[in-house]
This record gives sequence, C-alpha cells and structure tokens, in this order.
Amino acid sequence: MTNIYAVILAAGQGTRMKSKLYKVLHPVCGKPMVEHVIDQITGLHTEQIVTIVGHGAEKVKAQLGGRSAYALQEKQLGTAHAVIQAQSILEGKEGCTLVVCGDTPLIQTSTMEALIKHHEETGAKATILTARADKPDGYGRIIRGADGSVSRIVEHKDATDEERAVKEINTGTYCFDNKALFDALKNVSNDNVQGEYYLPDVIEILKAAGETISAHQTDSFDETLGVNDRVALSEAERIMRARINEQHMRAGVSIIDPLHTYIGPNVEIGPDTVIQPGTVLSGKTTIGADCVIGPNSEISDCAVGDRTVIRQSTAFNSEIGSDVNIGPFAHIRPKSAIHDEVKIGNFVEVKNAAFGKGSKASHLSYIGDAEVGTNVNIGCGSITVNYDGKNKFLTKIEDDVFIGCNSNLVAPVTVKKGAYVAAGSTITDEVPEEALAIARARQVNKENYVQKIFPKND
Ligand code: UD1
Ligand code: CA
Repeated sequence: MTNIYAVILAAGQGTRMKSKLYKVLHPVCGKPMVEHVIDQITGLHTEQIVTIVGHGAEKVKAQLGGRSAYALQEKQLGTAHAVIQAQSILEGKEGCTLVVCGDTPLIQTSTMEALIKHHEETGAKATILTARADKPDGYGRIIRGADGSVSRIVEHKDATDEERAVKEINTGTYCFDNKALFDALKNVSNDNVQGEYYLPDVIEILKAAGETISAHQTDSFDETLGVNDRVALSEAERIMRARINEQHMRAGVSIIDPLHTYIGPNVEIGPDTVIQPGTVLSGKTTIGADCVIGPNSEISDCAVGDRTVIRQSTAFNSEIGSDVNIGPFAHIRPKSAIHDEVKIGNFVEVKNAAFGKGSKASHLSYIGDAEVGTNVNIGCGSITVNYDGKNKFLTKIEDDVFIGCNSNLVAPVTVKKGAYVAAGSTITDEVPEEALAIARARQVNKENYVQKIFPKND
C-alpha cells in the first residue's frame, strides 16, 4: 500500500459568498464545510493531512485543531500557488497526494478511495476526479484528445464556447504522484484571464512531459458540488440533509417528512423513534429508541432516553431521561437534568434544574436553579424566584412534595420531604417535613359591600 498524503485547499476568502465568515467555515447541516472534508479524508488513513490556510487562518486552525498540519498562503494567487505552500512539508515524499478543495463538503471517503484505486491501477502521475454536470457553469472543463484521454483542463472563464459545451467537469479533487506534483508545480504560470496560478494546469504540464494522466468519473455529481455562493450552499445543505435523513431511516428511524426534518451530522437516534415534521436536532444530541420527537421541536446538545415524547418544544444542553413527556410548548434551558417518567407540560420553562423520577410540572411554571426530588407535583403557575437582580439562588424541593398552584418559592429556600404548600403562597422560609405551609393573606368577606358603593336605584 502506497503512502497517502492529503492537501486541503482552504485559504480563499470566498468573495462570491458575500460574507464576513470565511468560505470554508460556512456550515452545512451545522458543521463547517472544511470539517466535513477533513472528516471524510480521515477515513482514508493518510500519512499526513496539510491544510492550506490564508483568509481566516487562525479561525480555520482553531476549528480543525490537531487533525491537520497547516501551511500559510499569505496571498491567494491561485490553487497551484496554494498547493506550493505545502512544499516544505511534503516535497520529496514517496507516495500519492490527494488534493481536495475545502469548499466541496459532500465528498465521501468511498469516492476518494475509488479515485486512489484508479490512480494506482492506471499507473498515472495524475488522476482527476471528474463528473458530468447538467449545468457545468463555473467549473473547469475536461478536454479530451481524439483518443479519449485527458489532455488538459480549461477554466470556465478561459474556455471557448465549444469548450463550454463540454459537460464533464473537474471536481477539484485529484490524486497525484507526490514528487511529480511538486516538480510540475514549478512550471505553472499565471497567464490566463484571472491572472492566477491554476492547479489544473499541472495536468497539461505532466502530459507534455509524456506522463500518464487518468480520469476517474464519479456518477454522483452531487458529491462533488463546489460551494462558491449561497445558492450552492443551500443546495449542499439540501443534499447533505437528505443523506443524513436517509441514514437514519435505513437504521430504523421513522421520519414522517424528510424534506422538513433537519438533523445534524453528530446526532444519534435509536430505532423505532418517530421524528415528526419541523424538527431540528443539532449539536451532539442523542435520542433513544421508541421516542416521538416533534412536530416542531428543536433539540440541541441533549441526551434523551427511550420512549420519551417531546412535542412542539425546545431543549438545549440538557439530559432528558426515559418515559419523559415534554410539551407542547415547553422550554428546557441548559444544564437541566430531567429524570425518568417526568412530565414537563405546556408553557413550562426549566433552567439549570434537576427533576427527580416521576415529578411533574404540568402547566405554566418557571423552575430555574432548582433541585426537585422524586414524585413532586408542582402546581400550575408556580415559580422559583431565583434572582434578586444581582445573584441567582437555589430552590430545593425534596421528594413527595406538593406545591399548590400559583406559589412563589423565594430562593434560597427548601421545602422538605413530603411537605405541602398551599395554593397562592409566597414561601420565604424553609417548610419542614410533612408540614403544610400557608403563606397568603386570609380571606375577608365584606357583606353587602357592593350595595354600599353602587347603590341600586329603586
Ligand atoms: C476550482 C477549479 C475548477 C474546478 C472547481 C471545482 C482551479 C483554478 N479551478 O475552481 O477547475 O472545476 O474548483 O469546485 O483550481 N484556494 C486557495 N488559495 C487560492 C485560491 C483558492 O486556498 O489562492 C482554495 C479556496 O479556498 C477553495 C479552493 O481552493 O476552497 C478552490 O478555489 P475556488 O476559487 O473556489 O476555485 P473554483 O473557481 O471553484
Ligand atoms: Ca470552488
């Protein structure tokens, strides 16, 4: 097995994106394009990956961290000039070098494997991954000689009308003999419409030197989509979304309407879970088996157990157990731990709070900075008063407590095990075990009072 090296081109600003965010950092299904690319390359077991950085270099490096070596391209003088920046790291190495653009987020390991296999089998010095495009505008075109072999690549902007009619395009992914690549790069000029050093010119240079050039055509144009503007970005998003959704469906997840279901690449879902329309699952989220999620739920960075139902609700950075029932219209804010068999009903907001097994807050509550024990019932409209305008305080509600409707629990405060709080109470002191706390004004009935202020004319 030959050594494999990889170069990722990621130094461009991406002018056509019209964005302050560097192009390769634009997310597709929540993950930056360049990270999709490196994830797929990592599946190839390369000796070394070198990412060419320029615009936003620090940000790209921070995103990819130690997964790649880096070479800085100070001025973006073209794709050939970009690869030359890796010279000090790769020159002289025996093996083949894969070059991939950081703006082709849909490329897959299996396709790069097939490219490398084709390269080795044909004994070529350079193998281009090509595809047939219905609308080839903007892509370099593959120009073949009378014998059908590739003679060169012409960029769209430099192409004649006849060349523009060619539908076979350069996907921007190549496999080169590493030494031949760096030798040929020395001869690339910038004599073209854009005044740039084009990597595709290496093909013509190697061909002129009598070397074998080969091309591997993939049947999946989708996978090779180059994202240069926001229209292509949305196209990449649509394709990636369909790919992710299909993987989940094949693994036993029901997705009622895949066109309106948005699942990130790092989400895991157990079998027989049903995802209803309008659902967005993002970040590092895991959902267990036999759950019903949605319609219209947004869950990010959460771990959810089995048989849990989350309808029309949002949940962030929290743990949610099994057999839990959430929603409709609940808001689970970060650092919450909702244990098994809990019910969080409509218009309930939970923040940095733990709910023990079997507890319920069924309607219209705010439970923030709280520890709620097991089997607790929090009545409609009850609130933990956790904030004095400066600091946040903890409310403790122990096991088997019953909080009557419309109560305020002014933190820091503890309601001890088995206690009852009467409806409408404002609790400021600890409630002892099994006690009933009533903290509201007594009712006074003023007989005939209405008659007195609004006398009836007889
Ligand atoms: C390039 C190819 C074209 C191919 C298409 C496939 C060239 C000249 N053209 O065109 O044949 O069909 O990709 O998507 O190579 N970059 C740098 N430094 C630079 C210039 C670019 O790192 O100086 C990076 C960009 O960040 C980008 C990648 O190289 O990730 C490709 O550059 P881009 O300008 O998008 O090339 P295309 O015009 O799409
Ligand atoms: Ca491009």
